[in-house]
Amino acid sequence: MNLFILNEKEINEKIAREILDLVKDKPSCVLGLATGSSPLGVYEELAILSKKENISFKDVTTFNLDEYVGLNPSHNQSYRYFMNDKLFSHIDIPIQNTNVPDGINYQDSMDYYDQKIALKGGIDIQLLGIGSNGHIAFNEPGTSCDSFTHVVDLKESTIKDNARFFDSINDVPRKAITMGLASIMQAKKIILIAKGKNKALAIRRLFTEGIDISLPASILKKHDNVDIYCDEEAASLLKGDRAC
Ligand code: F6R
Repeated sequence: MNLFILNEKEINEKIAREILDLVKDKPSCVLGLATGSSPLGVYEELAILSKKENISFKDVTTFNLDEYVGLNPSHNQSYRYFMNDKLFSHIDIPIQNTNVPDGINYQDSMDYYDQKIALKGGIDIQLLGIGSNGHIAFNEPGTSCDSFTHVVDLKESTIKDNARFFDSINDVPRKAITMGLASIMQAKKIILIAKGKNKALAIRRLFTEGIDISLPASILKKHDNVDIYCDEEAASLLKGDRAC
């Protein structure tokens, strides 16, 4: 795993540049996308730069990691809504090229999401955030390394972390559909973004401990093409003692 400790602006610019270079080199590339606060700046940068540099996303296909079970795509906290609002409506990607697991008819996504990714040739770059408990996508501590797209019960810590986006903690869905750890590991390249102090412990564990299902992100150590971007706060507990 390669570690980059940069400020927020540098993180956004560097990752957006890498994605745009991929789109230029391979216009029909496949992007794996995340929601949440971590990739927001990257999406803003992608929207600005793709217009400025006239880079088209018309042949790109995207697959999002996850969706809340029970939220309609039109719900303003659904991940489909988030992606349309924060990225898809700002670039020229045809909406039919964008895939988000279905939080209502989730059986279909459970059965076919990984197949759909494979049929497109697999994910070229997978963007990830990390939960304060070390989850990636909604693969909570204890998730099997062999998991593909599946429905999960969200842990209390995740519900608390995500309550900031809802009117009340009681409105946060208790279940989600998520790509599994095995689904994520099939991506050709993985870029994980960690910003803020509440990620510091998970990042410390990621770089100082071995692979353990209590920290789902630790499976990334088995992948040979992973870049981890941290801001100073997320890297604050590393103290230079890294074991990648
Ligand atoms: C979102 C996702 C989650 C988030 C993680 C961090 O699609 O898969 O794993 O990446 O919960 O969330 P933020 O970025 O809001 O801190």
